[in-house]
Amino acid sequence: MITPLILGNWKMNTTAATAAALAREVAQGAPANGVSLGVCPPLVYLPIVAEACRGSRVAVGAQNVAYEKNGAFTGEVSAAMLKDVGATYVLLGHSERRHTIDPHEDDRVINRKLLAVLAEKLVPVLCVGETLAEREAGRTMDVITTQMKQGLAGVKIAAANELVIAYEPVWAIGTGKVATPAQAQEAHAHTRSLLRAQFGELAKGIAILYGGSMKPDNAREICSQPDVNGGLIGGASLKSADFLAIAKAALEATR
Ligand code: 13P
Repeated sequence: MITPLILGNWKMNTTAATAAALAREVAQGAPANGVSLGVCPPLVYLPIVAEACRGSRVAVGAQNVAYEKNGAFTGEVSAAMLKDVGATYVLLGHSERRHTIDPHEDDRVINRKLLAVLAEKLVPVLCVGETLAEREAGRTMDVITTQMKQGLAGVKIAAANELVIAYEPVWAIGTGKVATPAQAQEAHAHTRSLLRAQFGELAKGIAILYGGSMKPDNAREICSQPDVNGGLIGGASLKSADFLAIAKAALEATR
């Protein structure tokens, strides 16, 4: 049985003051057990948020990382630096980065970043998912297969909790259109089969999160699916009450 994981992706939102306040509210309201929580603030606020979460059950994550260790890479931040300021998780391959922000953020680059994150003993959260055009063309499972195989090329883990996958159908992100529980389960089961092919028995324990318009009123049904082990939450993670309600729903779904 995998403890559900609820991660908040704050994207490019908050200020120093609102980030600290939001983190404190989440830390104070986090359930005592049965669900793991993490928040991924904008990089510049990561130390403030790590401080606000210190001693609580809420972990902190980054939204991106460089694959190089150090050196002349203006504007970049390494996995070791993220670890240094208190990160546990690193989101990788988010569709906004793959499709909108950086045309160079392809599977090869994501794979290098993922290996750099693992080398620092941080936990990569590999995001995969199809666009609407890809779904309509019947290519959903092929897209997931390619993103998983290339993103995880050469990856070895010794324990299931060293890696997290997030299935985020691009058409459901920030649109209010949520995948049906059956659509989510189908993609998650396929993702699990790919993990089994690469990692054997460990695949049973690797958390696969759903992301895309997850809200307090749909979280329970989605998290009840056998291969859904929590959520990667965008918009609803910016309100502590909503984020905590999703965590509670995930906990109840897996009881
Ligand atoms: P929304 O929850 O706002 O749809 O965003 C999902 C997401 O992109 C999380 O990474």
